Amino acid sequence: MAVQVVMRITFFLLLTTYELAEAAAPIAKPNCSDSCGDIYIPYPFGKTTECYLNYWFKIVCNETGGSLKAFLPSIGMEVLEINLTDPYNDYYFWNDPGLVRLNVPIISSSCKNRSSSHIGGVNISGSPFFFSSYRDKFISVGCDNFAMMTGMVAVGCKSNCVDKSVIEDIKLKHCSGINCCMITIPSGIQVLNASFRSIKEENKVSEECKYAFLADDKWLSSEDITYNVQFLEYVPVVLEWTASDFITVDPNELRRRNSEGYPTLYGTKYYYCLKGYQGNPYLPTGCQGQPITNKLSFSRILFI
Ligand SMILES: *[C@@H]1O[C@H](CO)[C@@H](O)[C@H](O)[C@H]1NC(C)=O
Ligand SMILES: *[C@@H]1O[C@H](CO)[C@@H](O)[C@H](O)[C@H]1NC(C)=O
Ligand SMILES: *[C@@H]1O[C@H](CO)[C@@H](O)[C@H](O)[C@H]1NC(C)=O
Ligand SMILES: *[C@@H]1O[C@H](CO)[C@@H](O)[C@H](O)[C@H]1NC(C)=O
Ligand SMILES: *[C@@H]1O[C@H](CO)[C@@H](O)[C@H](O)[C@H]1NC(C)=O
Ligand SMILES: *[C@@H]1O[C@H](CO)[C@@H](O)[C@H](O)[C@H]1NC(C)=O
Repeated sequence: MAVQVVMRITFFLLLTTYELAEAAAPIAKPNCSDSCGDIYIPYPFGKTTECYLNYWFKIVCNETGGSLKAFLPSIGMEVLEINLTDPYNDYYFWNDPGLVRLNVPIISSSCKNRSSSHIGGVNISGSPFFFSSYRDKFISVGCDNFAMMTGMVAVGCKSNCVDKSVIEDIKLKHCSGINCCMITIPSGIQVLNASFRSIKEENKVSEECKYAFLADDKWLSSEDITYNVQFLEYVPVVLEWTASDFITVDPNELRRRNSEGYPTLYGTKYYYCLKGYQGNPYLPTGCQGQPITNKLSFSRILFI
């Protein structure tokens, strides 16, 4: 009899821990909405003063043309996605910076159907957002074109003119120097602008229409960008974000949250959940694990 009672209590306790662990750790502060349409909004991002960390992370959720769109007014761009860590970066499991995917305007020059001769350029210096050097590429579409990425660094690429009809589609798609060129970018970049000049006549800008932009390589691989760029105003770009200029979590507290900090290449830290844990390391509720061990002891009790 006594054994049965003890077993029932154990059973109840196990069930309770199981249920507690099963409830996913929240990603937003208490009483804060964690989404805008399909877009997740984890803290330090938020929609109202009590919900975001500071103005940099303020999200405006706006109904435009029947659908909800999210904006970051601090840098004036539309948000397509916010992630606490990079799910594609599993190989470097310790290197999982927080990411945002934004709609960033395309820079163009001498294009007849665009309003002015040189448009575009973004300067987000001083913000906690950095163009991701491992996710984005600098691309320029145009021919007889030497495009330089300007602002904080000067890196560039060249593309020659070849009649589209004489080359295979596959070469155009890969942006390999024919009507389109592509290069990797350094890390820590917060200014995006471009200058263009002719390859044939060094000190001249050619009259051809040219475009330059950064783009998420995951998006690029599915686009015929040399052709499609003329129809686009924005391109999805991945930025890394960091909140450790404003939030410092001490090592003991980090451990309690089942998380760790890792330095970025531009001098700040980001926090991430240890492998096997989920939640939000920026909140006191932290990251919580899968209840695998509880499940095992639970079924063992049943077989006694
Ligand atoms: C959340 O909202 C409820 C009901 O409005 C309130 O009682 C509670 O104190 C709020 N919690 C926090 C952390 O603001
Ligand atoms: C939200 O939408 C309104 C009207 O559609 C527009 O005037 C306003 O600028 C938008 N806000 C942002 C942050 O884009
Ligand atoms: C964010 O996470 C989702 C779900 O894991 C993934 O599909 C998406 O591609 C990620 N976004 C970026 C920019 O890595
Ligand atoms: C980008 O460069 C062009 C031409 O050099 C300049 O007119 C424009 O102001 C720059 N834009 C930014 C945001 O720096
Ligand atoms: C970017 O903006 C900062 C101030 O916000 C300014 O100091 C810097 O000169 C700007 N950089 C460029 C290339 O326009
Ligand atoms: C440029 O022209 C194409 C059609 O030729 C059009 O679909 C596109 O919207 C135009 N782009 C701009 C920025 O006006």
